Amino acid sequence: LVLILDYGSQYTHLITRRIRSLSVFSLCISGTSPLKAITDLKPNVIILSGGPHSVHADNAPSFPAGFLEYVESNGVFVLGICYGLQLIVQRLGGVVRVGEKQEYGRMEIEVEKACGLFGSKKIGDRQVVWMSHGDEAVTLPDGFEVVARSQQGSVAAVENPARRFYGLQYHPEVTHSAEGMETLRYFLFDVCGVTAGWKMEDVLDEEIKAIGDRLHCVFVDNGLLRYKERERVMETFERDLHLPVTCVDATEQFLSKLKGVVDPEMKRKIIGKEFICIFDAFAQDMEHKFGKKPAYLVQGTLYPDVIESCPPPGSGRTHSHTIKSHHNVGGLPKDMKLKLIEPLKLLFKDEVRALGRILDVPEAFLKRHPFPGPGLAVRVLGDVTEGNALDILRQVDEIFIQSIKDAGIYDSIWQAFAVFLPIRSVGVQGDQRTHSHVVALRAVTSQDGMTADWYNFEHKFLDDVARKICNGVRGVNRVVQDITSKPPSTIEWE
Ligand code: XMP
Repeated sequence: LVLILDYGSQYTHLITRRIRSLSVFSLCISGTSPLKAITDLKPNVIILSGGPHSVHADNAPSFPAGFLEYVESNGVFVLGICYGLQLIVQRLGGVVRVGEKQEYGRMEIEVEKACGLFGSKKIGDRQVVWMSHGDEAVTLPDGFEVVARSQQGSVAAVENPARRFYGLQYHPEVTHSAEGMETLRYFLFDVCGVTAGWKMEDVLDEEIKAIGDRLHCVFVDNGLLRYKERERVMETFERDLHLPVTCVDATEQFLSKLKGVVDPEMKRKIIGKEFICIFDAFAQDMEHKFGKKPAYLVQGTLYPDVIESCPPPGSGRTHSHTIKSHHNVGGLPKDMKLKLIEPLKLLFKDEVRALGRILDVPEAFLKRHPFPGPGLAVRVLGDVTEGNALDILRQVDEIFIQSIKDAGIYDSIWQAFAVFLPIRSVGVQGDQRTHSHVVALRAVTSQDGMTADWYNFEHKFLDDVARKICNGVRGVNRVVQDITSKPPSTIEWE
């Protein structure tokens, strides 16, 4: 296992992904986890991530007491990236100070010494890397050597092979570091002697054993679904997946709780709680009918849901900085009766799709764009029960998605949807003044939903869609397009 200790870098999750793509299983936990949480996992390699802090800050996050003794006495290899490198240097007796010249973005480094990190014959090699740091290591601890320097002369890579410590001041995990992936490969396979072999089939074996055929699906229509979604999903479950499924119509239950609520986090918490109430009631019902009450709730929670709902301690993203509470993680009530099983909790969406392919899940189902549990409630800004907002949004969304499918670009887009804005604008339709609703169209590309870029439609496509929407949906007289990436925006508007 390659264990990543997270110190809050926005790139930490990428390290996990890159390593998994090399067929090596990796997990990420908070960099301030207690020693037992680390030793229980028995990692053979530990990577300390980057982070926004300075090692000199009062609350600078660090590994727990006993960490260095543990890794050294158990032969664990340690790689520090950016803040992680500075942490190693400082905690082993070297000096880190505020850099004279800060280094952000594209930078060249030169390899000065043969080192396993760069393969053996890379001396004098220049590489383009991605830097993002203010502090720098100026004096290395005993036994450490500089392996590469930046074009500005600062330390870019260090090693102490005898004690199995390595460090990179730049970020090998971002694609802008041209040889970053190669460096991770050299480090894992040549330096640490890790063997590749983790595959999706292993995950499958492990996760399926536990559940077997004791699964009953519950599809909740919360009144926040898209056009004809209930019928379409039920059909896929019954006809294509052959899974036992019950549909619960809970429209009234959800919409009455959401009446008048405009705060996005409040909406998310209410929805998370209602879902659980429904599952609890369903379990009770099963007990009456069959004399046996289900004890577990299986959820399709993905890794990004966990990362975004629960910022790791020490990440600088304290609780008040939770980006958004995903309904199935941060939005869950504390007093749940059912115990949770989350077989996909450590996987990214593209990994789940790969798993689905092994299971012969129909391709069209696998490629469906993600749709958030809180549904249209986070796409109708403000009170979702106001007027006929949900109805209008459903019609607009259907026209947009159908046009995308007709244009043959559905699979090139990670996610596309419409948003209902809580404002009206003046228009002129059929020589009459209108004061009607405004809708926004959003389509993004992404690999895992953690970062995203807006999709660049052809001019004609946008022109056609806007016309179809204004002509086809009563109450809409203006269409705008969202052209922000994530960050600074998020994919959903709430
Ligand atoms: P954001 O808006 O955070 O979304 O950039 C990232 C991805 O997560 C989806 N999303 C959710 N999925 N429950 C879910 O099941 C939620 O509460 C939730 N919130 C956002 C979003 O659609 C995008 O794919």
